[in-house]
Amino acid sequence: MHYNIALLPGDGIGPEVTAQAVKAVDAVCRRFGHTVRYGTGPIGAEAIERCGNPYPEETHALCMASDAVLFGAVGDPRYDNDPTAKVRPEQGLLAMRKRLGLYANLRPIETFAALVDRSPLKRERVEGADFLCVRELTGGMYFGEKGRRDNGDLAYDTCVYARAEVERILALAFSCAARRRRHLTVVDKANVLETSRLWRQVAREMEPLHPEVQVDYMYVDNAAMQLIRDPKAFDVLVTENTFGDILTDEASCIPGSMGLLASASIGEHTSLFEPIHGSWPQAAGKNIANPLAAILSAAMLFEYAFGRMEEGRAIRTAVAASLEEGILTEDLAAEGKACTTSEVGDWIANYLKDNH
Ligand code: IPM
Ligand code: MN
Repeated sequence: MHYNIALLPGDGIGPEVTAQAVKAVDAVCRRFGHTVRYGTGPIGAEAIERCGNPYPEETHALCMASDAVLFGAVGDPRYDNDPTAKVRPEQGLLAMRKRLGLYANLRPIETFAALVDRSPLKRERVEGADFLCVRELTGGMYFGEKGRRDNGDLAYDTCVYARAEVERILALAFSCAARRRRHLTVVDKANVLETSRLWRQVAREMEPLHPEVQVDYMYVDNAAMQLIRDPKAFDVLVTENTFGDILTDEASCIPGSMGLLASASIGEHTSLFEPIHGSWPQAAGKNIANPLAAILSAAMLFEYAFGRMEEGRAIRTAVAASLEEGILTEDLAAEGKACTTSEVGDWIANYLKDNH
């Protein structure tokens, strides 16, 4: 096959880790007989500097014309502490989500044997934990009406959901659950919020369409506790945008390192794949960031965007082998034993080339 992939390396460590994911994609394509062409576009702070727009039209056009998007990160400390900044790098990400219709963010949380002792939770709690967070990504408070009144002394953000948005994300969550351990947890705040009551109503209506899936309902405050108390009790968790943002950061500490967590944003147009760790500006250009989340995002890209499970598995096998061999960046390595970002990327690309 021939694939067109849009590369949006973005800010901070984004370019360094994306470059390693590209090495893995190239190696897999060579091995499985695919060809690939990349187009690169600016996004985030980098794009603001170039043209004043954090998600330029040329980048949108590139994404629309591609089969999948491989994204690094956006964010820059120069904007973080400036509440008067008119444009922010994060707006680029939100604009991209909206315009590409990236309505579902899938964040798998798995534990890696080599890392369980790094988890802040006890080994017996996390070992074997394996669940998928499905976060709605284009609705809720992020995109509802927001503003100020009373000379700026009153501020509001509105949480809005239409039935069609809720149905769409729940349908995806049900089908993910059907392909996994057939257990779906719908997380909401239906004891307080009207939008949550709509979510729950729609979910109940959909239950008979998926009789093989066991559905639980859980309030978000309780879910925040249960994720830490008993992460193994979850299979697929589905929730609205803001709750999902918070719960997935919480869940990301279960495996022991954020540096390994990949995500897929499923779109109406082109789907997007990104590491969840963000731009880590302090490490930018130092060749120390862990590229495994970006490389595992490339695995998700093959699986979700191209339906190429074997290619995805090959990348996962290479990542597991690198962990076992101790080819680790400094966030995971023992004192004095750390590899650089590009050394890890090269090791994985070579492993893939050697036809393991
Ligand atoms: C994420 C991030 C974004 C979000 C920010 C950078 C806007 O935290 O992808 O989870 O809040 O969605
Ligand atoms: Mn977040």
